[in-house]
Amino acid sequence: MLRLLAFSLLTLFLLPAVAAASPADEFVLSDHCPPSFKKTVQGTCELVNMYQFYDSLQDKGVGGTQTSLPPHRDGFTPEQIDLGRFLFFDPALSGDGSMSCASCHHPDKGFSDGMARSMGKGGHEMTRAAPSLWNVAFLQRLFWDGRAESLEEQAQGPLFSAEEMANTPQQLLATLSDNEIYQQMFRQAFPRGELDEISLGQIYMSLTAFQTSLISLNSRYDRYAQGYHAALTAPEIEGLNVFRSFVARCAECHTPPLFTNQQIAVIGAPEPDGLPLDIGAEAVFNAAKLKGGFKVPSLRNITQTAPYMHSGRFESLRDTVEFYNKGRGHAVPEGVSMHLHWHIWEPNLTSDEMDRVVDFLGTLTDEAFKPRIPKRLPSGLPPIDNPAGFAAAELATARLPIPIRLQQVNYHE
Ligand code: HEC
Ligand code: HEC
Repeated sequence: MLRLLAFSLLTLFLLPAVAAASPADEFVLSDHCPPSFKKTVQGTCELVNMYQFYDSLQDKGVGGTQTSLPPHRDGFTPEQIDLGRFLFFDPALSGDGSMSCASCHHPDKGFSDGMARSMGKGGHEMTRAAPSLWNVAFLQRLFWDGRAESLEEQAQGPLFSAEEMANTPQQLLATLSDNEIYQQMFRQAFPRGELDEISLGQIYMSLTAFQTSLISLNSRYDRYAQGYHAALTAPEIEGLNVFRSFVARCAECHTPPLFTNQQIAVIGAPEPDGLPLDIGAEAVFNAAKLKGGFKVPSLRNITQTAPYMHSGRFESLRDTVEFYNKGRGHAVPEGVSMHLHWHIWEPNLTSDEMDRVVDFLGTLTDEAFKPRIPKRLPSGLPPIDNPAGFAAAELATARLPIPIRLQQVNYHE
């Protein structure tokens, strides 16, 4: 207790000296690459993982364990990744300062939000569930219906949608440019910025950089795949074998090691009661055969992101597996014609086999590299959710006149 008191007194004396430094000092961006990445001579972060030792999908059989991963995005600097982390958690990115990306993609909820359908601006219920962001670095198309082709393009969706963060490009630029700390941080992350002004491109790029650092490839399944047989229990191995069997065919679409083949498939998953049919990819590609088609989601960290499917229809993994077992097209609404994928059939799994598949899905969990939530943000707003909106910023600055100096920002606890 005494030591604590002495320490507090000491900091009281020391703080004014720190306060004299530029307020931006407290938000020094990390110059270390996140775990899983190594820094190149150019100063960018390059992903390193075990799967890079395996060649390709060819000749290994679908669902084989020793297959390589699809191409991925990397090559961002540590500073860009770290700036993206601040932006991702900052409600200042929304029009009224109330929500951040993390409001719907919370690290403690598998980078989803635990809800069947996400809640946008002013409590507005959206029609779809928030996907996890783990391993988005590997995705070629984004959104359930595959309508965005890059993370940069994707970010503009929630930022400027009236139903989500409801910002405008002009206001977003103004908010960040008026903030001295952000100005400094952008200069650090983009030292050769042409006009020395924050640009929208830099904002999208930083958000992308941060999201591509969310790597989860060291689950118990991965250790098993890399030859450590004891990483899985007998029931889990049984589940893996059902999962990749020709009867269940799960691995045809949820192809290891990413557990998605990144295609759009029509499987006929039902909407929650009372909701109209979501035609999914039909609208994006203007193709009737894609009615009810959705991107095959990765199943990594799947235990963390219930409820399941594009509109959160299924509460549990058991219910989801059971959906496949109930037979091809059983949930397609009457009078609707859907071109169901040929791998959707009638697996007739026993109740035990379904339980084993669920056991197996539990081995895909790895959240070791969960990034740290910033304690303070350059905007002065509380990280993640801020129901009070921008008014909270004034409160925060009023209460905290002296910036607390943070040492090197670390990514992880
Ligand atoms: C109001 C809740 C909400 C907010 C805020 C939000 N998202 Fe999302 N996010 C969603 C939902 C819902 C989807 C799926 C929408 C769809 O597919 O039509 C989604 C999809 C995504 C995807 C696609 C993932 C995939 O597997 O295809 C990415 C990436 C993403 N969001 C990143 C972000 C970023 C970055 C921000 C902040 C700029 C953000 N989100 C803010 C709810 C939200
Ligand atoms: C024809 C391709 C295909 C096959 C085969 C397939 N799936 Fe899927 N899976 C999908 C698609 C597409 C979705 C998303 C559908 C939606 O949201 O409406 C999905 C969703 C899921 C989800 C929910 C993911 C989430 O994030 O909400 C789980 C779990 C799942 N599948 C497990 C399985 C299992 C187990 C099997 C084998 C019994 C299987 N899948 C077979 C394509 C397939």
